Amino acid sequence: MTEKINLVYHGNIAIITICNPPVNALSVEVRKGLLDALKKTEKKESIDAIILKGSGKTFPAGADIKEFGLPPQKPDLPTINDYIESINKPVICALHGNTLGGGLEIALACHYRIAHYKTKLGLPEVSLGLIPGAGGTQRLPRLIGIPEAYKMMASGLPINADKALKLGLINKVIQDIDEGSIQFTINLIENKEKLTKTKDRDDLINNVNEDKKNIIELKYNFKKQYRNQLAPQKIGDCLEKLLHSSFEEGQNFERKTFFELLKTEQSKSFIHAFFAERKSSKIPEIKSAHPRNLNTLGVIGGGTMGSGITIAALNAGIPVTMVERDQNSLDKGIKNVEKIYNRDIEKGRLSSAQVEEIYSRFTKTTDFEALSSVDMVIEAVFEEMNVKKQVFKILDKVLKKGGILASNTSYLDINELASITSRPQDVIGLHFFSPANIMRLLEIVVPSKVANDVVATGFYLAKLMKKIPVRASVCDGFIGNRILNKYGDCAYFMMEDGATPYEIDRAIFEFGYPMGPFQMFDLAGGDIGWAMRKRLEPIRNKNNRYVHIPDKLCEKGWFGQKTGRGFYRYDKGNRKGDEDPEVLEIIKLERQKKGLTPIKFTQEEIIKRYLAAMINEAADVVYEKIALRPSDVDVTKLYGYGFPRYRGGPMRYADSYGLNNVLSDLKRFQKEDPLFWKPSELIINLVQKGDNFESLNS
Ligand code: 3HC
Ligand code: NAI
Repeated sequence: MTEKINLVYHGNIAIITICNPPVNALSVEVRKGLLDALKKTEKKESIDAIILKGSGKTFPAGADIKEFGLPPQKPDLPTINDYIESINKPVICALHGNTLGGGLEIALACHYRIAHYKTKLGLPEVSLGLIPGAGGTQRLPRLIGIPEAYKMMASGLPINADKALKLGLINKVIQDIDEGSIQFTINLIENKEKLTKTKDRDDLINNVNEDKKNIIELKYNFKKQYRNQLAPQKIGDCLEKLLHSSFEEGQNFERKTFFELLKTEQSKSFIHAFFAERKSSKIPEIKSAHPRNLNTLGVIGGGTMGSGITIAALNAGIPVTMVERDQNSLDKGIKNVEKIYNRDIEKGRLSSAQVEEIYSRFTKTTDFEALSSVDMVIEAVFEEMNVKKQVFKILDKVLKKGGILASNTSYLDINELASITSRPQDVIGLHFFSPANIMRLLEIVVPSKVANDVVATGFYLAKLMKKIPVRASVCDGFIGNRILNKYGDCAYFMMEDGATPYEIDRAIFEFGYPMGPFQMFDLAGGDIGWAMRKRLEPIRNKNNRYVHIPDKLCEKGWFGQKTGRGFYRYDKGNRKGDEDPEVLEIIKLERQKKGLTPIKFTQEEIIKRYLAAMINEAADVVYEKIALRPSDVDVTKLYGYGFPRYRGGPMRYADSYGLNNVLSDLKRFQKEDPLFWKPSELIINLVQKGDNFESLNS
């Protein structure tokens, strides 16, 4: 057959295997080859049944996303699926790995589906801003009923083989894909089982009134759950169509809707995020270096971050030695770790035996000498240069030759830290996000003297921990926090100029963030920003605008949720927070002090300013080579700061909004504050050339 399709015969059984590594995506050559192989075997009289498989790690994980946006090429997937279903010999698909999207849609069209016990089955098209486009919305409900099918498609989350069997999605779970599929097929042939075509099944969709009620209710719930997203609602439309039309009409409606969604900014942004996320680990250092050994880890500090990093490492199977400054602090650190694992046991996520096994890899001590043989140490002590320098001096003495010294600092200069050691080539920044055992972003900060294999080890650690790594160079706040400070300032300016914190939060929530900046400050704790502002006060450019309101709140001890008050009031454990008239009074007084007459900001204006501040700083971050490419900024903001994924990240958003529009917004705001709103050279250059950020991603 073709390079992408392998066809062999096992007696009276034809076995067609799709070979398109790494995930057997259904590219045009695969589709052509598959249709040819099906036609050939269908005609062959000596063949009684056909098995469809994927080679390597998986059955196809979906359509080839790289083809999206290009002119469609025949044969399309619905045609192949219809053809499979029409064959008068049993077609059995033997699933394994990640049977997703178009891959699962092929399976739905087959007459029988059997799956290896480790298979994951799903229709994740929503995570690309799309709906299943090859019959999925019409066939899946016929096999498992409308409510389960809608939940599976709207969440995009895969299910395991056991659940698929329970739901009726597959016919059998097997232990061995080759032997199991042949045995299953031999039995079928011997028993002369009657073929069932999924499209003809109506036993689970014959209660139109009940189904209609279910669809309306789920649509309503998904509107809230997947706020502003088009695809989950469109899936509901396809299910409504299914109730009132033939299979063919339903499938045509689905296909038309799929192509409409493919043209939307939402889908383009989701697809951008998909590739951006995979691109972020492609960095120059990895081309010339391999990771060093990474079998053991030390973590200094058992506070918020140290305990989270410890858990992330233990969960990745890496033995950890935690070091604290004294026994009391060590006990607290151990408690921090145990609290999380106790909760995992309570929630049934881990068994006591599993946690015991994890603890057997967890060493705790106040003695730095215990780190002499570990491969890497991550420091997570107080954010004070002197404290960190002391720790690094000790580490320099005790750590073995070739051991890696990493800092989890949020802002401090890692070049300066590296310079006080005798081995700057072994020093790197690993900036985790809180809670470090949950948040997937890891900024890998590359100081000027670090060795390439140390950088490669940082990326390897990210892989072990299933984190999304982004390479950053050294500057105050690296990629994420540096940009955050800028749009945080913008939010403060708007507050001082006339908007309430609550209006700003509502606007940013409407844009798609899970919460606004003031809710976020309250959640993170106002004291953290306050400490940083005090640290920077001596070197702050006094020509820059400075808003004192947050300091005023901190002076009152209002640090946010943890103290019950911040920009919001959190009375009696109310975590959502209420608007606080006393905060508005403080703001009013500050405005009066500066002689400011409050301005009214529309929601649109708030969003324009907030995003312009973010994009402008992000452009400088790329221009100064702090980030390797605009898409790395997008990944940082998506995974660390809650930027709505359906907008793809700030750089992708800027491209869709139009860089010339961003520039004209900046120029308008610049008239009020020339220093803060100075447009980035990168934006000016790109607009002059008629280019966009995307042009810098390749
Ligand atoms: N099309 C094209 N390339 C794909 C792809 C796809 N569907 N899925 C993965 N790839 C590429 C990745 O870009 C990556 O390329 P790179 O090595 O050049 O960076 C490579 O395959 C390996 O992918 P991962 O690094 O993600 O591998 P993992 O093993 O970590 O994950 C996976 C495997 C779970 C299958 C994951 O790749 C994934 O989720 N893929 C997308 C699945 C998906 O969304 N399918 C639906 C597609 S839309 C569809 O089918 C429409 C249909 O209804 C008509
Ligand atoms: P924390 O105050 O919760 O914990 C710091 C811990 O370090 C304390 O348990 C303390 O006893 C210990 N410690 C202090 N000096 C020590 C020494 N000399 N030897 C051993 N242990 C010592 O602080 P947190 O929040 O965990 O922050 C730690 C680092 O992580 C800081 O650099 C911070 O900027 C950074 N970070 C914090 C984030 C957050 O959201 N909290 C997010 C990302 C980074």
